Amino acid sequence: MCDASLQSYTSFRIGGPAEVLVEPADVDDLCRVVAQARAEKIPIFVVGGTNLLVRDGGIRGMVISLGKFKGIRQEPDHVLYAEGGVGMPTLIGYAVRRSLAGLEWGAGIPGTVAGCVVMNAGTRLGEMKDSVKAVRMIDPRGRVVDISAADIPFSYRRAHLPRGIVAGVWLQLRPGDHEQIEKTVKEYLQYRKDTQPLTLPSAGCVFKNPPQDSAGRLVEAAGLKGARIGDAQVSEKHANFMVNVGHARAEDVLALIKNVRAAVKKKSGVTLELELKVVGQA
Ligand code: EPU
Repeated sequence: MCDASLQSYTSFRIGGPAEVLVEPADVDDLCRVVAQARAEKIPIFVVGGTNLLVRDGGIRGMVISLGKFKGIRQEPDHVLYAEGGVGMPTLIGYAVRRSLAGLEWGAGIPGTVAGCVVMNAGTRLGEMKDSVKAVRMIDPRGRVVDISAADIPFSYRRAHLPRGIVAGVWLQLRPGDHEQIEKTVKEYLQYRKDTQPLTLPSAGCVFKNPPQDSAGRLVEAAGLKGARIGDAQVSEKHANFMVNVGHARAEDVLALIKNVRAAVKKKSGVTLELELKVVGQA
């Protein structure tokens, strides 16, 4: 697909078009596409849902969506293999039905498994690195490479992976009490529904939490809850979320980010670091 809108490929529902958008059918197809792009010197970008802002000018080169990578299977010893495009809610539902514990922390995270691995998604209860056993990647030459978690340095909101595309992940879970797992997931989902704007398009948390503090608390203290530029708004519910209340442009979000950072710096002396990944052309 050429000049394809990326709005429906991001949870923010914002952003310009992809010069070329490709949705490989499976790993073999993905390997072929990657090898071909390399041969033709076409840059590749993988879109995957949350914590992403695509600028209004869109993305040049080839954008790959893992929208068809939706398989999950159970392997021995309480291991699940999930393809990169599987949504976290789907994966958690699958684990809960099999009484497998370990992913409850992710209840309500809307991202894909691949996205959550790449950014080591996490909450107060846990993070991706706690469960990752190994990652299946497609390297820049289009070859399948499996990497053990022991060889992946993880840090706050980042997995230090070699260049390539996360095609799938093995997760080491543990047998648990079905009712207890379900209860934890439900309670956590409720907490998120109560405290986060889950019904409006957003990109999750915009800023990283500074050490020992909360970006949401700092933005609220700077008086910016509800602040708006165009259709981009600092959420009234959680100040570390920005929501798209209509047809927000990336430009509006970026202007709002600038204002928020300046106000927080002035009020608290803290420089907020972006958790949101900004990509594409202005
Ligand atoms: N707070 C405010 N005002 C706000 C929002 C929060 O004062 O507008 C205060 C709360 O009252 C609370 C504290 O800040 O005392 C922490 O708030 P919360 O429990 O909502 O957690 P958070 O630190 O703001 C983190 C993750 C979220 C994750 C939640 C829930 C980061 C940057 N954020 O938020 O992750 O959903 O915990 O576990 O790590 C994301 O990564 O995209 C994300 C949203």
